[in-house]
Amino acid sequence: MHTQPKVLSPTGGHEIEDIVFDQETIQARVAELGREIGDYYRSGDLLLLGLLKGSFIFLSDLVRSIPRPHRVDFMVAASYGTGKKSSGHVRLHYDPETNLEGKHVLLVEDIVDSGRTLHRLLRLLETRDPASLEVCALLHKRVVSVDVPEPRFVGFDAPPAFLVGYGLDYAEEFRHLPFIAALKE
Ligand code: PRP
Repeated sequence: MHTQPKVLSPTGGHEIEDIVFDQETIQARVAELGREIGDYYRSGDLLLLGLLKGSFIFLSDLVRSIPRPHRVDFMVAASYGTGKKSSGHVRLHYDPETNLEGKHVLLVEDIVDSGRTLHRLLRLLETRDPASLEVCALLHKRVVSVDVPEPRFVGFDAPPAFLVGYGLDYAEEFRHLPFIAALKE
């Protein structure tokens, strides 16, 4: 006999303060970003490099709204672990297989917070001789503490709260939420 699994709320009973960007607002802005990216890259080989894990949902929506051919690869890096503050040490877990030389590389980030992740990865990617190297960040908190260039594409300026959902996590929870919410302090 099968027992019915207990039905959990979408947040598993964890506390969410409020929804900061709802599903409709995100989808509309991601569609616009796709068009902006298509307009910006008129020629050449475009490679989107999704920075995992946080960008996995954003990237999958974004690639479907870019109206020109492009390829996709990934990097995996992390610095937050289970805390709400960056450890300051950005660990690279996976480096893209694709040869970046001569390609227009667009690094896709879910959020720019302290800027440490971008700082470390941009320095690394620059050494691979791409034709160009730009960043598309869904969210930007405007609180960077290190020297990083302004991303070429930004979805939304974000409030200082700890944000979860649409790929963003707290201790690996909440990534699946279709909206972006502030976590209760
Ligand atoms: C988060 C987020 C960004 C980065 C931004 O990644 O996805 O990549 O931190 O923060 P920063 O600007 O202060 O460096 P995290 O280390 O939590 O790993 P994850 O992508 O696996 O969630």
